[in-house]
Amino acid sequence: MMTTLEVSLRSGRCRGKMAKGKDTLRTTLFGKSFKNPVWVASGTFGYGEEYAELYDVSKVGAIVAKSITLEPRLGHPPPRVVETPSGMLNAIGLQNVGVDNFIKEKLPYLRRLNTRVIVNIAGSSINEYVEVAKRLNGRRGIEALEVNISCPNVKAGGIEIGADRGQALKTIAAVKRASSVPVIAKLSPNVTDITAIARAVEDAGADGISLINTLVGMVIDVHKKKPALSNLTGGLSGPAIRPIAVAMVYKVARTVDIPVIGIGGIMNTENALQFLLAGAKAIQVGTGNFINPRAPLEIIAGLKGYCKRNKLSNISKIAADFEG
Ligand SMILES: Cc1cc2nc3c(=O)[nH]c(=O)nc-3n(C[C@H](O)[C@H](O)[C@H](O)COP(=O)(O)O)c2cc1C
Repeated sequence: MMTTLEVSLRSGRCRGKMAKGKDTLRTTLFGKSFKNPVWVASGTFGYGEEYAELYDVSKVGAIVAKSITLEPRLGHPPPRVVETPSGMLNAIGLQNVGVDNFIKEKLPYLRRLNTRVIVNIAGSSINEYVEVAKRLNGRRGIEALEVNISCPNVKAGGIEIGADRGQALKTIAAVKRASSVPVIAKLSPNVTDITAIARAVEDAGADGISLINTLVGMVIDVHKKKPALSNLTGGLSGPAIRPIAVAMVYKVARTVDIPVIGIGGIMNTENALQFLLAGAKAIQVGTGNFINPRAPLEIIAGLKGYCKRNKLSNISKIAADFEG
């Protein structure tokens, strides 16, 4: 006699039945379970406090905190942000409270939220990355580190690490040695071949790869006859960069075995689906938070609806249906 499960499997009902369950968005990456694959990107969500005034931020799958360096940084002087067609250019310059203040003042709040917290770290040298990772190591409530080797707006420690295979490998390997939590390497699109950097960080032991950070851009104020940003150039983000990001995620997901997290111009469910179909296991909303703070919640609801309509037992099954 067949069991109910066997009957369901034979009739195909199981797929549909499970799709009604609560956990269609539950996502397991680097051995950790996330309530959904919709995360918020570093530098666009602060440390969560401001957005908590607008909605229950514990609904997002993970909060990636603003990049943290060893010492507090003031960042670049204004103007630091300018609007561009379908996007924005920023040169904040890694303004942050520094790792010790982060541990004292920000982490206790983040830890109380009922979601995963990923801490993004940056530095001007490999030693600085390692020191930040060491100070964070063993702190309760940190699920993973995201290593920013891709900031286009700082003189040292940004893209020149992320654009060099050897430097990228050394930095990620050193952070891995200093940390007991999973390490995600955040890659820059300002490179000739992103798959070469992806392979290097995988070889270094990275547990995941997130991409993309911003693209270097410049806006000139023709009336003042000078660059619109005090830093002269900045990082371009928003819908304008989405097709570049989708192409890079697609290529990297086919190059490495570790999970890929897609970032770049995600504003709504359809945008998020593009990244998931391209092979990303999770996505991060960045500039989208500034335009519609509730975008992550809308995407979570949209992905649930997608699973239901397509009878997917879990969103992770989506890439199997991709014909690209
Ligand atoms: C104002 C601003 C600040 C950012 N700060 C950081 C940062 O501190 N660390 C980091 O890794 N990425 C930072 N980013 C990059 C975003 O996390 C994201 O990778 C990028 O903006 C592309 O995604 P989007 O088009 O959805 O914004 C910042 C982006 C913006 C717009």
